[in-house]
Amino acid sequence: MGSVGAKDVPVLMSPDGKRIDGRRADELRPLAITAGALKQADGSAFVEWGANKVMAAVYGPREVHPRHLQQNNKAIVQCRYNMAAFSVDERKRPGLDRRSQEISKVIAEAFESVIFVEEFPRTSIDVYIEVLQANAGTRCAGLVAASVALADAGIPMVDLVPAVAVGKVADSIVLDLKKEEDNYGSADLPMALVPQSGRLVLLQMEGHMTRDELHRALDLGVAGCRKIYDVMRQALLDKYRADGPAPGVAA
Ligand code: CDP
Repeated sequence: MGSVGAKDVPVLMSPDGKRIDGRRADELRPLAITAGALKQADGSAFVEWGANKVMAAVYGPREVHPRHLQQNNKAIVQCRYNMAAFSVDERKRPGLDRRSQEISKVIAEAFESVIFVEEFPRTSIDVYIEVLQANAGTRCAGLVAASVALADAGIPMVDLVPAVAVGKVADSIVLDLKKEEDNYGSADLPMALVPQSGRLVLLQMEGHMTRDELHRALDLGVAGCRKIYDVMRQALLDKYRADGPAPGVAA
């Protein structure tokens, strides 16, 4: 993005505690989820979260490709996170880069720990995440979309996995960073968890926080995840009220 002078840095927090888009520190961006948005996939979901637009499609359990990855005692979870060339301000070079490989890996690992993989030996559960429009927090939006898509596909798992990024912006700990906050803030901490047990299945961090700030950030993220969880559940209920009984996640 190149270097910026101090005069170019936007005011991230007003004196009365309002953020660049008017939110309070503990406020999420508007979140809307449509379960079963695609006809061809086994399960799917479309997430609009602030200015993020993310589609997830799930296939499986199905035959493993490439074959040598097959595991005799469990299913493998494969994830491909991709950012469309037109999803960001400066055209993104199409194709897999290191960032999308890293994000695909951490998302696959998060799902491996919540899906009952032992029930489907020698198969693959394939998760595709397409970011159509990006404005920070896309790995979390992708996880949320994929999680609803997995439930929509009827894949048995411990629970839905809500995710959100928390961070430090102008010395405040804030929930759900948008792009300017991600770019000019001092820390970004995406997290995903199983709400009932509080078990974290994804936790990454860029930047610096004190131990006390980290504790406050985690608490804020957990509270945010619980709100996101309600929206995810509602999206599935809305679809299956119209279509018939919901597979996958127990009520
Ligand atoms: O999207 P997320 O916050 O999970 O990941 P990030 O690597 O922290 O990226 C933050 C944001 O930077 C993305 O959501 C995009 O809005 C933006 N970005 C971009 O403009 N061009 C890229 N090649 C990668 C990210």
